Amino acid sequence: MPERILVTGGAGYIGSHTIIGLQEAGYDVVVVDNLSNSNPESLKRVEQITGKQVEFHGFDLQDRQQLDALVQANRIDAVIHFAGLKAVGESTAKPLLYYGNNLGSTLSLLETMRKHDVNKLVFSSSATVYGDPRTLPITEDMPRSATNPYGHTKLMIEQMLEDMSKTSDGWNITSLRYFNPIGAHPSGSIGEDPNGIPNNLLPYVCQVATGRRDKLTVFGDDYATPDGTGVRDYIHVMDLAAAHLAALQHLDHPGTYKAYNIGTGAGTSVLELVKAFEEASGVTIPYQIADRRPGDIDSCYADVSLAARELDWKAERSVTDGCADSWRWQSQNPHGYADRT
Ligand code: NAD
Ligand code: UD1
Repeated sequence: MPERILVTGGAGYIGSHTIIGLQEAGYDVVVVDNLSNSNPESLKRVEQITGKQVEFHGFDLQDRQQLDALVQANRIDAVIHFAGLKAVGESTAKPLLYYGNNLGSTLSLLETMRKHDVNKLVFSSSATVYGDPRTLPITEDMPRSATNPYGHTKLMIEQMLEDMSKTSDGWNITSLRYFNPIGAHPSGSIGEDPNGIPNNLLPYVCQVATGRRDKLTVFGDDYATPDGTGVRDYIHVMDLAAAHLAALQHLDHPGTYKAYNIGTGAGTSVLELVKAFEEASGVTIPYQIADRRPGDIDSCYADVSLAARELDWKAERSVTDGCADSWRWQSQNPHGYADRT
């Protein structure tokens, strides 16, 4: 019998791409998503890509009755927990929304899992847990801190998971600390579909390329980096999806909590990313240099040797691949999923 995986937040950007990998690897997938930041069209397109059905349940993870009934009715072998709110700026404006949703949904999930003896979990953490890193590349054992409520929820959830793994319940938990996800499925039929004005760099660049925005604002060119613009580790979402499969396949040590950096190990500056996008798309991106964005750091990139060693995973796609795939998605769907719904 195939293993059955509960994917929370599966209608979202990273979840939908990961479901493709899961279905292609032969897993059965059950999704819970309240669609607070996604569109059910993403899952229809996943089904078109894989030719397999996705069992979808549209409710909030904090609804313990519905979650309990779902886990009771299904034999769940493991959970991948993507569900959460993720906008840093919004989290500063509405901290209670973030603590309530991200911690509340995780507590509800963990208690339900415990009740039904489901103890394998992969959790979506973030490079944001390293705060302003003192040295680069970032290794998993470096000091952790957060500068905003979103980051605090990731730190707190990681702490909860680590504490639980020390109980006698046999939990086997892996946190994946994603660096900066970019790209889309190579078909161009699913991708990142941000609400309103994008905060993240590549979605913004894509909307400049379609003419939806006039120009890119580059936040600062006086950082201590080779060209003065911020440096990040951009990881292709298909590589990220593969990392979840690798993590799932290594959940075979009850009583263990592990955290892994999921990046490429290489840094790319804002201007380098713009150049890679222009090469991949053939579209010129007008930009202007502006002040630094408050809270931004100079550089952030991962040491990825632990994931290579222990999960047998490494990124295979380049930043140019990510730009080409993001552009295919964006040019085929200039208004995201709203184009077809
Ligand atoms: P996303 O917003 O596209 O997906 C998250 C999904 O969770 C959405 O479909 C949303 O509707 C759902 N959701 C939120 N709260 C829920 C709740 N209480 N009950 C049920 N469903 C709920 O985001 P994403 O980019 O796919 O990110 C997935 C995870 O990865 C998040 O936890 C995010 O914090 C983390 N992460 C993302 C990035 C990034 O840049 N995209 C970086 C690091 C970590
Ligand atoms: C953001 C989040 C971080 C999250 C990460 C991955 C903030 C403060 N942090 O980080 O918590 O883990 O995304 O999702 O939002 N840039 C521009 N112009 C733009 C947009 C961005 O110049 O319009 C620059 C930024 O200054 C930065 C780089 O591009 O140097 C990447 O920015 P972004 O995509 O927002 O990611 P992070 O800031 O790394």
